[in-house]
Amino acid sequence: MRIGFINPQGNFDRQDSYLTEHPDFGGQLVYVKELALAMGRQGIDVDILTRRIDDPDWPEFSEPLDDFGELGERVRIVRLPFGGDRFLAKEQLWPHLPEFVQAIEAFYRPASWPDFFTAHYADAAAVAFQLKQRQGKPFTFTGHSLGAQKMDKLGVTAANFEAMENRYHFSKRLAAERQGMALADTIVTSTSEERFGQYGHRLYSGAVEPDDDSRFRVIPPGINSRIFNAEEASDSKSDRSSVLAQVPHPNEPHVVVSSRLDPKKNVAGVVEAFACSPGLREAARLALFVRGTDDPWTDLGRLGEGERQVLMPILARIEAAGLRDRVHFLNLNSQRQLACAYRLLGRSGSVFALPSLFEPFGLAPIEAAACGLAVAATRNGGPAEIFADGVGELFDPESPADMAAALERALANQQALAASAAERVAERYTWEQTASAYLEVIRAGLDKPPPAEGEIEDVNSELAARLDAYLGQP
Ligand code: F6P
Repeated sequence: MRIGFINPQGNFDRQDSYLTEHPDFGGQLVYVKELALAMGRQGIDVDILTRRIDDPDWPEFSEPLDDFGELGERVRIVRLPFGGDRFLAKEQLWPHLPEFVQAIEAFYRPASWPDFFTAHYADAAAVAFQLKQRQGKPFTFTGHSLGAQKMDKLGVTAANFEAMENRYHFSKRLAAERQGMALADTIVTSTSEERFGQYGHRLYSGAVEPDDDSRFRVIPPGINSRIFNAEEASDSKSDRSSVLAQVPHPNEPHVVVSSRLDPKKNVAGVVEAFACSPGLREAARLALFVRGTDDPWTDLGRLGEGERQVLMPILARIEAAGLRDRVHFLNLNSQRQLACAYRLLGRSGSVFALPSLFEPFGLAPIEAAACGLAVAATRNGGPAEIFADGVGELFDPESPADMAAALERALANQQALAASAAERVAERYTWEQTASAYLEVIRAGLDKPPPAEGEIEDVNSELAARLDAYLGQP
């Protein structure tokens, strides 16, 4: 069996170049790569279909065919040209997706088509929808992050809609998501909160019913346990010395934050929790993992404008609160260094904090927990399910006092929390389990009849009215 993964945005390479350095190089790329490799290990042929980028600023993505080394051609990265040569952010890809559909058709015309597609994010849903219409190919839809929730969080209203639309192209994204929801053989969510809470948004009504069991399957993602584990022996000498060089107090407890510098990740919230809580300042230091600069106080390095906008007020707040000697910045260059830092800090009684205003799933705290850190996380989104039953501390990300209290509890109870979080991860979150669940869904989907004539056309006839109602009453 061959499975095609559709992932127009970002890109893939053996080194995971740019991971977490750019908004399109985040959790979704890890998800697609790890799931593809886990399927490959189960004997399935996989093609990851993505964009060919021939841009001197992004030199890793110009080869049409590539792989991850590990399984050779069993799991291929297939880069197809569309939208020109230069790197384009995901928001800029919309007008070029029909060209991607044609490129996929041209690629498979002489070869044999995948039996099934998995579509990742709204842009892939638009492509999978076309392929189903044109080629009758079945697909699963995995949203990763849905536009309606982003609109809620950004406070989109009639007054700012035009500006938001110009930047984020929400109407295209919602239309594509609705197509994916309506036509996918199965919609895969990471948690049931995602299924009921997010797909139940009024902007999706008419496209899918969240309580329709025949349409959904909750499949949590896993972690790469070859990298994220609690074995000290996994650390290479060079990773350990590079981490130690950046942690001046390796034996003291830290609150560890490893989020992208994006306003929705709310890194500023943790700094605020430290600023407002003498108890927290006393109990731990703050380790902020920021890729792209060795010392943000003197050099903003390779950070982009958006990241600088997030970091500057954080630096100002640290300074104003007199926290400079309690906050340490780490610039880690690989997943292995990240895991090494987690292990080191886990041994000194540290806690991983995920302060996002909303987090659709929350892979990072699972990775941290596998390495021995206790977890305190936002109660908005996936973490509430993953770290339920007292396996982690949950907090309101918009309340620095609540966050500080949760972090203090986690620090006080670090050993027990770290042990129960590690146990939960081993039990539920491995890519082997994720791949097996996808394959179950895919095998069942292969037996389903193709969509009936006309079934597809009307998915978005109600969208304009729903959008008007939303903008009238956000
Ligand atoms: O991890 C980064 C990422 O998963 C992207 O790859 C994904 O598409 C994105 O986050 C979702 O973000 P947004 O909802 O802001 O478009």
